[in-house]
Amino acid sequence: MTASTNQVYPVIWHNNSVSLIDQTRLPNEYTFVEIHRSEDMAQAIKTMIVRGAPAIGVAAAYGMYLGAREIETSDRHEFLEGLEKVAQLLRSTRPTAVNLFWAIGRMLKIAYETLGTVEEIKQTLFETAQAINLEDLQTCQAIGDNGLAILPRTPEKLTLLTHCNAGALATAGYGTALGVVRSAWRAGRLARLFADETRPRLQGAKLTTWECVQEGIPVTLITDNMAAHCMKQGLIHAVVVGADRIAANGDTANKIGTYSVAIAAKAHNIPFFVAAPLSTVDFELSDGSQIPIEERNPEEIYRVGDTNLTPLGVDFYNPAFDVTPAALITAIITENGAFAPSELAKSQSQLVM
Ligand code: MRU
Repeated sequence: MTASTNQVYPVIWHNNSVSLIDQTRLPNEYTFVEIHRSEDMAQAIKTMIVRGAPAIGVAAAYGMYLGAREIETSDRHEFLEGLEKVAQLLRSTRPTAVNLFWAIGRMLKIAYETLGTVEEIKQTLFETAQAINLEDLQTCQAIGDNGLAILPRTPEKLTLLTHCNAGALATAGYGTALGVVRSAWRAGRLARLFADETRPRLQGAKLTTWECVQEGIPVTLITDNMAAHCMKQGLIHAVVVGADRIAANGDTANKIGTYSVAIAAKAHNIPFFVAAPLSTVDFELSDGSQIPIEERNPEEIYRVGDTNLTPLGVDFYNPAFDVTPAALITAIITENGAFAPSELAKSQSQLVM
């Protein structure tokens, strides 16, 4: 199937199952994977068929419903025990994006709180997964508009830089960082987006550029090590990135390489914005040192296609995320407005759960 629309929804409930855009095949193939079982959803999250913190949360919520559907009992206690196992399986997929744990927690909570038969709990779980999906879409649109409101006033047409993919593909749709870019584009405030390629999985090269092309947003791809040079040349007016987990003090985990972009932005006096839903804020962690950082298979860094890049005898280290200290962040753009990192706690009372 060829994409011909700028409406990108990576997780869709369709025909009694979940359709996921297979993000491992973009941009060359735009295909969907049908997920019928919770185990297959866990595998899809692990292998990054679906990725990006909010999209992982939405996928996990549906995974919880699929798992609930598989539990064959009418006994409430037995059912809830089974659901805890599904939650455990889904939680074990990726450790950094807190939206995964947030969505699973919300699904479990509603299951425990729903009185009535097991069938009624299953129905409530389905409705909650649908609600999480829809809410994330609305949240992203609000983030986009709140971000547009705090972008630098001059010049009229901005060039923004982003890292990784925090777009429609990484959310229910529209995107967080790319939501801000999209809102700026639609408001006539964007000249161009610079996209870091984002080694090793190349989400910038493969996914962010793809989304831009769908919407006709002018995009320039650079390799990660070119960002500081572009800033020095005056090519970048502001940086906007997404987040996988934000600690209470504003320290922000995002795709590996984000930290060095933030340092470069600070050195060049360029505003550095983080765009994320409040479900990405983990108020239980006082600072970023407590955020678990996923380490992935070293093959991601030593192999390109079928080719090994290194001689034998080399060791590898492949952390998938890094933590940008709050001091480097100009503002955190949420659905409830933009906050200085030190003000983040003020948004807590407005969380859904
Ligand atoms: O490993 P990924 O592709 O899931 O990492 C994605 C990112 O780091 C995104 O920037 C983040 O999840 C925000 S998505 C709106």
